[in-house]
Amino acid sequence: MRRILIVGNWKMNKTATEAAAFVHNVARRLPASPTVEYVLAPPFTAIESVRATLGSSSTIQLGAQNLFWEDRGAYTGEISAPMLKDLGCRYVIIGHSERRTLFGEREDAIQKKLHAAFTHELRPILCIGESLLQREEGKTEEVLRQQLHGALAGHSLHSVTALTIAYEPVWAIGTGKAATTDQAVAAHRTIRAFLAQMWSTDVAEATRILYGGSVTPHNIDTLLRSDQIDGALIGGACLQADAFVTIADIAQSIGARQ
Ligand code: PGA
Repeated sequence: MRRILIVGNWKMNKTATEAAAFVHNVARRLPASPTVEYVLAPPFTAIESVRATLGSSSTIQLGAQNLFWEDRGAYTGEISAPMLKDLGCRYVIIGHSERRTLFGEREDAIQKKLHAAFTHELRPILCIGESLLQREEGKTEEVLRQQLHGALAGHSLHSVTALTIAYEPVWAIGTGKAATTDQAVAAHRTIRAFLAQMWSTDVAEATRILYGGSVTPHNIDTLLRSDQIDGALIGGACLQADAFVTIADIAQSIGARQ
């Protein structure tokens, strides 16, 4: 069974104080669910205040938006996996398209970050997705396979059990123009086929594949109705408490994948 995973990626939004107020409002409105997991990924500076506000028994889990692959040392400005673990993070987003395009993150860095996450038992959410030009040129499948190969080659079967993949077409992120369910499903099938080929059908069936890019309370239902879409990585809509709660409610009404 694949539990639905709803991940809020706050990007560079909310101070520690604003983040605490948000989760104070939202946490009590999200009942525990056997079929849905919720994760919030605040900026590093707000992780501690979110953790303190949620307390130890919350239904919302903590994630980070990035990490650096070394554990410690002279890497000014970076944050390591042990630091995130110590703050109570369970998940970490890796290879988001904004990191790739704005900060020049390349495959070798993404591979090392995944390795660090696996080593420290953080669950990585690996983001991949094609640009508009790549889609228009009919290269979507090829790009997804290249990105998967670039990030995952060299990782053992044992480690990938904790992996989640987020399909996020670059043209859909923050644009208000989400992929259609058919487009997302086609990409998810490509990803699952790659995982089956690289490891096994069991791994492919067990790995959660999320969709991300302009997900809102209005389109989440249609997306999650497909059993190929195991959840969502959500930016803008997760900054508003009511929208986050509505999305969570809809996810709960749908349930898990068999
Ligand atoms: P969006 O962002 O929901 O605002 O499009 C998604 C993401 O970047 O993960």
